[in-house]
Amino acid sequence: MRHPVIDLRSDTLTRPTEAMRQAMARAEVGDDVYGEDPAVRALEERVAGLFGHEAALFTPTGSMANVLAVGSLVRPGQEVICESSAHIARAELGAHATIGGVTMRTWTGQRGRLDLPAVRRMFAPDMGPFFVPTAAVSVENTHNFAGGAVLPIEDLRDLREWADGVGAGVHLDGARLWNAHVATGTPLVEYGAIATVLAVCLSKGLGAPVGSLMVGGRDAVDEARVRRKRMGGGMRQAGILAAGGLHALDHHVDRLAEDHEHARLLAEACGLDPAEVDTNIVVVERSDATEFVTRAGEEGVRVSVVGPTTVRMVTHLDVSRADAERAAAVLARL
Ligand SMILES: Cc1ncc(COP(=O)(O)O)c(C=O)c1O
Repeated sequence: MRHPVIDLRSDTLTRPTEAMRQAMARAEVGDDVYGEDPAVRALEERVAGLFGHEAALFTPTGSMANVLAVGSLVRPGQEVICESSAHIARAELGAHATIGGVTMRTWTGQRGRLDLPAVRRMFAPDMGPFFVPTAAVSVENTHNFAGGAVLPIEDLRDLREWADGVGAGVHLDGARLWNAHVATGTPLVEYGAIATVLAVCLSKGLGAPVGSLMVGGRDAVDEARVRRKRMGGGMRQAGILAAGGLHALDHHVDRLAEDHEHARLLAEACGLDPAEVDTNIVVVERSDATEFVTRAGEEGVRVSVVGPTTVRMVTHLDVSRADAERAAAVLARL
């Protein structure tokens, strides 16, 4: 018997469940550019509240939420400091530069970790007409290219304390913050407290088809609403999408623990220490990365290459325990 393909390339590949589709079909909608979509409003208010912030803005993608969030702190001609493999630096195709006029300098952290001493050394808010002024620091939790690594909340609190002292903004790319919350038990509101502004995604592990939010203070969100429209992101009856997000918040947060367990199974099969896998992403170093991916694909397990020698696999809502076990058997054999 030939099994269906197990797709571990990303947690963005999930398709909405039947229950989510029904919630979306039933959504009460209006024109969100007029501020009249009840489902979008409910989602924005709920997510702002979860993180203890004043307001939130629904966006089509995490990239747009990040551009709006970083842009609320960093003006054209200023810089943000971030980790060298951060999604904003590596995988948003230069959006922060081309749209926001923002430049970046980076530190390289062990497993994507914050290096506060490096940040302090780099921080230069005002060195006259010679150097780009630093306006903010960005952190990513969980850290995608560092293998879904969770940033310790203590490090983030230290960052917040330092940032308050020097007047720097803190941006948190929380595309997978839900995973960090479930893995550590740290309340979402505590993650919210370390960030001036954050971006969270509903379309990764939470399994919604579309949608992210920028979360922050009322003024920053009001300004971002205008910028979102300018970027072509003013959506009309977007409540159909927001309803998928609300359903995901109700039903798909706690279950992320299962994805984390499945990721540890895959890690063990690949000869890694499962204790080093914090959440739902496993990164394996292989000199034959491309060939490995091809061979896994031939055996019905799709994984991806994210660097010349780096293979990535991600567990999600559409990967059952049985799928994870079968994938682990294939990976162990390879
Ligand atoms: C950490 C992180 N931030 C932001 C994004 C961007 O999300 P989107 O693909 O919705 O633009 C991603 C996407 O995978 C991500 O992993």
